[in-house]
Amino acid sequence: MKPYCPPSEPHPVRDKFAAARRELSSALIEREDEVDLALTALIANEHVLLVGPPGCGKSLLLDSLLAWTGGAKFSILLTKFTAVEEVMGPVSLVGLKEDRYVRVTAGKLPEADYAFVDEVFKGSSAILNCLLKILNERVYDAGDGAARAVPLKLCLGASNEWPSPDTGKELSALFDRFTLRKTVSPIRSRTGRARLLWTPDHTPRLSSTITPAEVEQARRSAAALPWSEDAKQALEAVLAELAREGVRPGDRRQFKTVGVVRAFAFLNGADAVRPEHLEVAQHCLWDCPEEHPQKVAQAIARVANPAGMRIAQLLLEVESVLAATDVRNLAAAAKAAAKLGEVDKQLAGLDGHTRMETARRYVREQLRTLKLASIEAI
Ligand SMILES: Nc1ncnc2c1ncn2[C@@H]1O[C@H](COP(=O)(O)OP(=O)(O)OP(=O)(O)O)[C@@H](O)[C@H]1O
Ligand SMILES: [Mg+2]
Repeated sequence: MKPYCPPSEPHPVRDKFAAARRELSSALIEREDEVDLALTALIANEHVLLVGPPGCGKSLLLDSLLAWTGGAKFSILLTKFTAVEEVMGPVSLVGLKEDRYVRVTAGKLPEADYAFVDEVFKGSSAILNCLLKILNERVYDAGDGAARAVPLKLCLGASNEWPSPDTGKELSALFDRFTLRKTVSPIRSRTGRARLLWTPDHTPRLSSTITPAEVEQARRSAAALPWSEDAKQALEAVLAELAREGVRPGDRRQFKTVGVVRAFAFLNGADAVRPEHLEVAQHCLWDCPEEHPQKVAQAIARVANPAGMRIAQLLLEVESVLAATDVRNLAAAAKAAAKLGEVDKQLAGLDGHTRMETARRYVREQLRTLKLASIEAI
């Protein structure tokens, strides 16, 4: 079975997503998964959280995504000193004179279609509570007890660390509101590092913008995608396997995953959800960041065997072979070259996957560099 189906009908909005995916992924180094995650979240109307060390490109990606979207935006870096007013807007003085408690929300989170909250767990307890309500119920309370609907479609969260398990109630509740969550690792490959060092500017330049109406169109098209029987069985098998290993994502999380996988299938131009689209569920179906992400990724790789995950695994193997090889040792260099050749063949077998060609180009480039270096060393 081919990993990705060709789109059956033209869909200009899906084409826009495909172009943004290409442009973001080619500007940002080794951030293909994070780009996919953010675009999937946008289509699925779910919130996404990226956790990683300082300077690994989280803001660059999330800012670029926000620059692509039209509509009202709100961005903030939270600290424990950030006041509620900075997020929710100041209390209206005119209102107070009339004995009414209302906030002036213009330009603040209650009026945003899209939000980027950096250091999202650093806010005070009052801010975490406001965020929780807005992210979860998509309503806010101006202080007069009346719940007002907010237009928020997507909150992009970033943090340098995962909240610890013994964290407070508000924090763990807020953490749970991010349906998609991923660790961002520093750049791994030598070629990636060279690109980072010697490219003067890494800012993605997107050739289009997308309106909230177009995002809504994408959301509806994605929500209409049927799940194939194979994919349904694969998800049930993954959940059963996880339960055996003691990983039991909550019912809400499981249900939301169904929509997220649909959005990922849409992003990939598929006309139905297939088992390989479960790849994205590795970022949804867990609660404990210490051990569960690996367990979930392994269970999905075993049951659904998605090509994208195999590509990532093969590239990691290439990195560890290269790191362990001394090019001055001819026998070791020949062994490494044979291994890279084998990986290239396995990648060729994943025909049809969007990332296969880029991965093969990378492996062949490494193979050439390896051969040249060992010739020079003689
Ligand atoms: N993967 C990457 N691809 C391209 N550029 C990168 C990448 N990682 C880091 N950079 C470069 O480093 C700069 C800093 O990245 P950025 O501010 O996005 O990091 P961050 O993860 O948000 O850090 P912090 O946690 O401190 O907020 C970027 O503007 C970019 O020039
Ligand atoms: Mg940042």
